[in-house]
Amino acid sequence: MKFLGSHGHEDHSFRRNDFQTNIYLYRSRTFVMMANKSLSEILGIQYPIIMAPMFLVSNAKMLIAAGNAGITGAVPALNYRTDEEFRAAITEIRSKTKGPIGINIIVNKSNPKAAQHLKTCVEMKVDYIITSLGSPEEVIRQCKPHGIKVFCDVVDLVYAKKVESLGADAVIAVNNQAGGHAGNLAPEELIPLLVKNCNIPVISAGGVGNYAELQKMLSLGACGVSVGSLFIASDESDVSKEYKQACVDYGAKDIVMSTKVSGTPCTVINTPYVQKIGTKQSWLERVLSKNKRIKKWVKMLTFVRGMKSLEQSAFGASYKTVWCAGPTIENVKAIRPIAEIVKDLVSQK
Ligand SMILES: Cc1cc2nc3c(=O)[nH]c(=O)nc-3n(C[C@H](O)[C@H](O)[C@H](O)COP(=O)(O)O)c2cc1C
Repeated sequence: MKFLGSHGHEDHSFRRNDFQTNIYLYRSRTFVMMANKSLSEILGIQYPIIMAPMFLVSNAKMLIAAGNAGITGAVPALNYRTDEEFRAAITEIRSKTKGPIGINIIVNKSNPKAAQHLKTCVEMKVDYIITSLGSPEEVIRQCKPHGIKVFCDVVDLVYAKKVESLGADAVIAVNNQAGGHAGNLAPEELIPLLVKNCNIPVISAGGVGNYAELQKMLSLGACGVSVGSLFIASDESDVSKEYKQACVDYGAKDIVMSTKVSGTPCTVINTPYVQKIGTKQSWLERVLSKNKRIKKWVKMLTFVRGMKSLEQSAFGASYKTVWCAGPTIENVKAIRPIAEIVKDLVSQK
């Protein structure tokens, strides 16, 4: 197969591998080439894959391993308790891998640290930022002059158009197979919808656990993918052995959506403890979170309490196990180094 440059001519500067993602879509009996730059090209990486930011799970070791395996990793700024720790992690990653560094900033109002996180990212000149759960406006405004790329999580076309108009460099299309706060649309619907209607590249998040699924998202028009759950059971993650082993032992059928954790629907493994506490907020919690005068505080309290229980489950050896993961743990057969996970993901069997 020939790979054409973004202006339609044969481009010999491209590395010729399976992941050249100038995509031909068969539309109205003509092949139309999408002006969709490959993520490899955008970030200068070998394979068009982001190891997705995962609250509590992602760390510097994982980003270094990802960078050295030919992909790139992103870490939530919230995974660091202090600004000093956050800065030290960026410095360490930079010293141990040449790969680009990505940081996830939760930009909604329940994150009081967002402004400081952004300031640090700009000062430390990270390579790209992934925004989630709110408006990326301020992040884009501050990052643009420094050449820091901003990729924004979106779940539908309306929001994708909004972030595009604000100047986002790419959208991350979070589909209904994603781990964490999943979207509502299937990748088959979401990716072509955004590719057709947006003028910025579309990165797909959710449902990639093997080579065939990676190829599927690329052939739907994504310029790259963001993969999270597959990397929880990695040697480099600091979460407990029990959490990692659960990703090996449980499969896609064991993933349920729970609002119990943070108030927002989130995918969790259906452990006996999750079955015991249920996946829906109680009647009282629902009523309180709708009360006009106190809902802000109730939501914040639910969020903080949920994060605490996730943290205890992720690192502790308690029977109260609320482990966040998506259906792609179906593909996890052992706890392994990130280099091996990546090698498998990019190799046709
Ligand atoms: C354990 C876990 C924690 C996550 N934490 C975050 C987070 O802090 N911020 C964020 O933007 N997305 C978060 N996500 C979503 C991922 O960034 C990504 O969109 C998702 O993992 C892709 O779907 P996949 O798990 O099927 O690969 C999380 C996902 C998981 C599984």
